[in-house]
Amino acid sequence: MVYHPIKTGIRTVSSAVGGMVRETVLPAGVDVTKPLIPPLRTPTAADNDEAYGKLAYDLYSDTVTLPTEAMRKAMAEAVCADEVHQVHPPTVLFQEQIAQLTGKEAALFMPSGTLSNQLALHLHILQACGPASVLCDQRAHVYQFETGGMAYHSRAATQTVAPSNGHHLTLEDVQQHATIEEDQHYSLTRVISLENTLNGLVFPQEEIGRISAWAREQGLAMHLDGARLWNAAAETGLSLAELCAPFDTVSLCLSKGLGAPVGSILVGPRAMIERARKFRKLFGAGMRQLGVLTAAAHVAVHDTFPQLRRTHDLARRCAHMLAARGIPLTVPCETNMVWFDAVAAGYDPDEIAQRAKALDPPMTVRCPRMVFHYQIRDDAVERLAGILDAMDASKKTE
Ligand SMILES: Cc1ncc(COP(=O)(O)O)c(C=O)c1O
Repeated sequence: MVYHPIKTGIRTVSSAVGGMVRETVLPAGVDVTKPLIPPLRTPTAADNDEAYGKLAYDLYSDTVTLPTEAMRKAMAEAVCADEVHQVHPPTVLFQEQIAQLTGKEAALFMPSGTLSNQLALHLHILQACGPASVLCDQRAHVYQFETGGMAYHSRAATQTVAPSNGHHLTLEDVQQHATIEEDQHYSLTRVISLENTLNGLVFPQEEIGRISAWAREQGLAMHLDGARLWNAAAETGLSLAELCAPFDTVSLCLSKGLGAPVGSILVGPRAMIERARKFRKLFGAGMRQLGVLTAAAHVAVHDTFPQLRRTHDLARRCAHMLAARGIPLTVPCETNMVWFDAVAAGYDPDEIAQRAKALDPPMTVRCPRMVFHYQIRDDAVERLAGILDAMDASKKTE
């Protein structure tokens, strides 16, 4: 191949060594040694106070948490290495520790719960020899909120089931909707995907055991969306290993209740996790200096898990406060979520949200769901009660 002299701006410059080494002269006035953008503005103490102050009353979700001092320190001090080459000992160790905690052979850090769930389901579906289905609760995140990923990534049909008891799927629900017998009209069920907690509800472990035992008899795979399995563990006292035992694969989120800035972790059999690593790369999510994130995640597991129970107590206190005012709960409050119907009790949800926003510091309250995270202050419930009191008072004067 012949390399020609390069034209840059107005000047033509020569190339050397048979055209393999090039030296160009920049156009007059161009300086590429200057930064492209202004320096990063360091947040002030006031910026931090504002962000963390707002967070203390932000009931939007448990995804809104901010990294603690300890997490920031761990991130700043992390000595990283290129994790695509699996050469970062703290990340390898963190994954091993989570695998051990959950009683699985291996674990893999993922950038999100969605990727973690969808990759696991994809790998299960790949093992089917024809058209295949995933059976899940009709409220499941993998079905409702993952952008149609099961159809898009895995060409899987979805068998959605409404739990007959309104709380959790039973073995009988699953048996009624799963397709086990070969029939040209149907795609066979390949995976049963459960979620714990789901809308804050704890899935009874005994029922999971029944479903899993039957699924194994049928040769079906069991996946768990355990984005908030930590909450189930904190609420029931069951170990993560006990909660994960009935499943082949489990996805646990680090960035929900535990408060890590980013990340989920997929656990399962070693061979499957190795494949997941390959597919993670295929989907463009091989992460290089991942140590910054696993350091924060490590702190999150260590420091935040012991605080989850308090978030459940707060949620329950809030649920009692609402119920005492005649505001119906639409889903039982079992962990950190409070589902309520303000309209049924004559409260305008928009007015609640506006009044909450106008407080100093502001509160974020959204109907029909409030979520308690570990950075919520204890007096959030009283402040919310104050908003409802003010609304009652203004109704009386109307
Ligand atoms: C139950 C559940 N599973 C999975 C996810 C997906 O997590 P991510 O937002 O990290 O993709 C979420 C997100 O809120 C969730 O609530």
